[in-house]
Amino acid sequence: MTVQNLPGQPHLAYRGNELFLEDVRLSDLVKTHGTPLFVYSKESMLAALAAYQRGFAGRQVQICYAMKANPALGVIQVFAAAGCGFDIVSGGDMDRVLAAGGQAHKIIFSGVGKTRAEMRRALEAGIGCFNVESEAELEVLSEVALSMAMRAPVSLRVNPNVDPKTHPYISTGLKGSKFGVAHDRVLQTYQRAATLAGINVVGIDCHIGSQITDIAPYLDAADRMLDLVEAIEAAGIPLQHIDFGGGLGINYNDDTPPAADELWQKLLIKLDARGFGQRQLMIEPGRSLVGNAGVCLSQVLYLKPGEQKNFCILDAAMNDLPRPAMYQAFHQIVPLTPRDATPQTWDVVGPICESGDWLGHDRALAVQAGDLLAVLSAGAYCMSMASNYNSRGRAPEVLVDGTQARLIRQRETMADQMRQELSLLTP
Ligand code: LLP
Repeated sequence: MTVQNLPGQPHLAYRGNELFLEDVRLSDLVKTHGTPLFVYSKESMLAALAAYQRGFAGRQVQICYAMKANPALGVIQVFAAAGCGFDIVSGGDMDRVLAAGGQAHKIIFSGVGKTRAEMRRALEAGIGCFNVESEAELEVLSEVALSMAMRAPVSLRVNPNVDPKTHPYISTGLKGSKFGVAHDRVLQTYQRAATLAGINVVGIDCHIGSQITDIAPYLDAADRMLDLVEAIEAAGIPLQHIDFGGGLGINYNDDTPPAADELWQKLLIKLDARGFGQRQLMIEPGRSLVGNAGVCLSQVLYLKPGEQKNFCILDAAMNDLPRPAMYQAFHQIVPLTPRDATPQTWDVVGPICESGDWLGHDRALAVQAGDLLAVLSAGAYCMSMASNYNSRGRAPEVLVDGTQARLIRQRETMADQMRQELSLLTP
């Protein structure tokens, strides 16, 4: 039997004429769970994590998985078991980590709008660090911690004003972005933090954007961060850790991001040269750990050839896979069982009542109604951004490990969707 790997997708391969993820035939999963269906490879996640671990060999690092990329309990459990911490952005994220058996002291809490209630609960749980994003937040956090007779461990998120050269919606480290403390106010904000009785300064943090495919913005941001560390420590405020955020891109199509180990070897050369190589380091990768570990399986409902466009209508839609509609993002779409026929050009769309409900434009596919397709690179920011638009239930999720496939989330039913609603017909 011929085995043909998909470029950039080491855990996906055609064996004969059937697409496999690790050792599981994807069409078998559709028979059991239906479509749309998300399927993730555990081995792919651990391989992505191993690339970071290789890059940091011999260093002190805490890898905090940015769980906004994919917060499924089953996914969190894979990373928790591998020793990761977690970057959370809400009290709900924290509940998920704790429910999955993750350790509170390895949690860092990012986000520009933490509420007092979220702060209180995170302090009670004993999280490792609050990544504070503004002076106003700092004051409130100090107040909350003092009211509990505690001191909150804090790192300030710096906005280094570096262009990550990615989609504007996912670039976060430029002047004019809502994120982080402006570069030229960082020192005075640290000086203020040092005077607040409810604050214990422990680190510094930045995150410049997402789907970054170039090393240069990281090197620039690192230089600017290290300049700040020197200035803050010269002012008598020691920092225990330096957190470089996440943001490393993946290959969706013809992107060429550096490998995680290559990126970190280059950054560590810089850190060594400036005397920071043996510091406690932290990173917050999301997409690069899970993005290419996942596929979304879908069935072709109808073919609708037209005068200007041919439409291939799937049972998956923008509520399952919002990235094309939101960022004009490209996801490869491939058949589970390729047909021996001449491909035609199709716009691959979902059933939702919006012209923006597309998954791929102008794709060459040999398809018929009833065929099964896989949307690739669907492990990050797909299920986590899924919605119930058009009363569509969210898809189930399966985690594959070798020959084993385990359901980690059931398909959402209409009863699930309506559970929170109160009918006017019942008194
Ligand atoms: N740390 C912070 C503070 C973040 O805001 C983010 C992502 C990360 C870490 C993880 O970044 P990653 O390694 O995953 O690039 N929905 C968009 C991406 C939004 C990213 C938001 N922040 C997308 O689908 O492309």
